[in-house]
Amino acid sequence: MSRLAGKTALITGAGNGIGKASALRFAEEGCNIVAADFRIEFAEAVVDDIRAGGGSGIAVGGDVSDEAEVDAMVRAGVDAFGTVNVLLNSAGGGSTKDGAVTDLDLDEFWRTIRVDLFGTLLCCRRVIPEMLTSGGGSIVNISSLRAVIGTAGADAYTASKGGVLAMSRAMAMQWAEKNIRVNVMAPGVVLTERVAAFIKPDNPIYRKSLLGPSEPADVANLALYLASDEARKVTGTVMRLDGGATAY
Ligand SMILES: NC(=O)c1ccc[n+]([C@@H]2O[C@H](COP(=O)([O-])OP(=O)(O)OC[C@H]3O[C@@H](n4cnc5c(N)ncnc54)[C@H](O)[C@@H]3O)[C@@H](O)[C@H]2O)c1
Repeated sequence: MSRLAGKTALITGAGNGIGKASALRFAEEGCNIVAADFRIEFAEAVVDDIRAGGGSGIAVGGDVSDEAEVDAMVRAGVDAFGTVNVLLNSAGGGSTKDGAVTDLDLDEFWRTIRVDLFGTLLCCRRVIPEMLTSGGGSIVNISSLRAVIGTAGADAYTASKGGVLAMSRAMAMQWAEKNIRVNVMAPGVVLTERVAAFIKPDNPIYRKSLLGPSEPADVANLALYLASDEARKVTGTVMRLDGGATAY
């Protein structure tokens, strides 16, 4: 259980869902965790669990779409553990205010872009200089099945996740020579509490999956691989974790 021994991971959105599952999984593999979430109480509960299991971590509050708060998250990690070797950008997600371009809530469009796309950008922008100083690192960003194939009904979210995917590939090109890898996970339906509450089994996106929806732990295991040195020759990829939805 030492696939991330000696490394430190900043995980945004670590208070719930995929971020939480990844924080717990990474900690099992010896990683120091900087659990960041704008609901700090959730991040603190995750860190309590990590410490109870013998792992090491700190909780930090803050909004990923606020540059000063992102700076504070990274600073807290560097102060506690010396550097940040892994960045997993998991803060974000869609909502029921999204929809078709003709009827989606325009404030929701900008909220989604600010959190999912701009927040990912801000965290990468602040962490990369730390990775350059410490000789490299691994960035794992989260896109979506919706950015890989066409799905109707969540156009703001789809736009933001398309941006995350394209921006990540560009970053992979930019930073490979500095030993910073940048990869993207594109999950289909993942049964986090938030998603289970608003994507019901009659939603067409469910039927696309050959193997059914994933659990947060499934995504955490993929993130673990991408974060670890096992993926040392993997960069610029989009790894689909969608139960075969895009195999058609
Ligand atoms: N669950 C799915 O089906 C699914 C599928 C594809 C992609 N994703 C993506 O995976 C990521 C995580 O999704 P999830 O289902 O685990 O979500 P979640 O709601 O379970 O957890 C997200 C966490 O992020 C935090 N957060 C939200 N906005 C934030 C902000 N601005 N700053 C800091 N923290 C913030 C929330 O407090 C929450 O704890 C999202 O980017 C989502 O779009 C999820």
